[in-house]
Amino acid sequence: MDIEKVTFSAPGKVILFGEHSVVYGYPAIASAIGLRAKCSINSTSLEKNSISIPNIIPARKFILGNEIPGVLKSLEFIVHHILKKTKNQKKLEMEILSDLPVSAGLGSSAAVSVSVAASLFSILGIEHNLENVNEVAFDAEKIIHGTPSGIDNTISTFGGSIIFEESNIKQIPINLPLSHFIIVNSLVPRNTKDLVYSLRDRYNKDTKKYSQLFEKIGEIVEESQKNLKLGDLERIGDLMNRNHILLDELGVGNKHIKKIVSILNNQKAFGCKLTGAGGGGCVIGLFEDRENINNVIELLHQEGYNAFITDISTQGVRHE
Ligand code: MEV
Repeated sequence: MDIEKVTFSAPGKVILFGEHSVVYGYPAIASAIGLRAKCSINSTSLEKNSISIPNIIPARKFILGNEIPGVLKSLEFIVHHILKKTKNQKKLEMEILSDLPVSAGLGSSAAVSVSVAASLFSILGIEHNLENVNEVAFDAEKIIHGTPSGIDNTISTFGGSIIFEESNIKQIPINLPLSHFIIVNSLVPRNTKDLVYSLRDRYNKDTKKYSQLFEKIGEIVEESQKNLKLGDLERIGDLMNRNHILLDELGVGNKHIKKIVSILNNQKAFGCKLTGAGGGGCVIGLFEDRENINNVIELLHQEGYNAFITDISTQGVRHE
């Protein structure tokens, strides 16, 4: 029977260790989080494919093939790419809803791309696997971010917690039963592509200095893997702090990140660091006790930031 409607959702992510150096082939550890993007597709009797993204552009439906805003270009690419694989002439009406803040370093664009790709394969009846979803989402990420490592689309597709190195992935166990991660959104939007490109410029001008910093981050990633498995909070926190200092040296901090990090340190976080590309976006902090976390969240809200507890190691793309 022809499917008339499908919905798939896919998670956002936090990079626990190793952002930026991962673009240069070093390992990084990422975890899928509880916030998700959702794509619903109906087949329609209308003559053209359409897409709406009400969280970002309210009350508008865009016809693919007509002039569409830049933020939808990568999704238009996914639609064309997947339609080429089938003779199915169904016309589709797509709606995307997302819990994820955009331009915040939580993998919102990848989660959207993954949910759109999975929904399209499914409604068009095209045989596929998770690798196929991941590949097309990676190509879409390149349209948005230029030269991404591929970690965002990969963790969103497969879920859990992974160590990622040059597109190779391994699921890793994270054993943190009593602890909690919080995400603090500085509410300063930033552009991953610009941050990655400007770091590339600095790297090209002083390759030795930046290679050494990447090397040190790579060592932290390796060390964190065993401590995440052991659930050694003090050690993990210490490694997060060290990773953060190195990210600052790469030049991807900003004054809000600095302020958030100092609040979290004063509030006795085991450790904290920026997550994602930096330059604004989010900081993650590791705490042990939920009551303390609620006070910290309240304090951060008073300072004008958005903070929340997050689950980690959540499920990857799934049918809803
Ligand atoms: C990804 O969320 C953050 C960066 O490492 C870029 C990338 O891996 O593509 C800065």
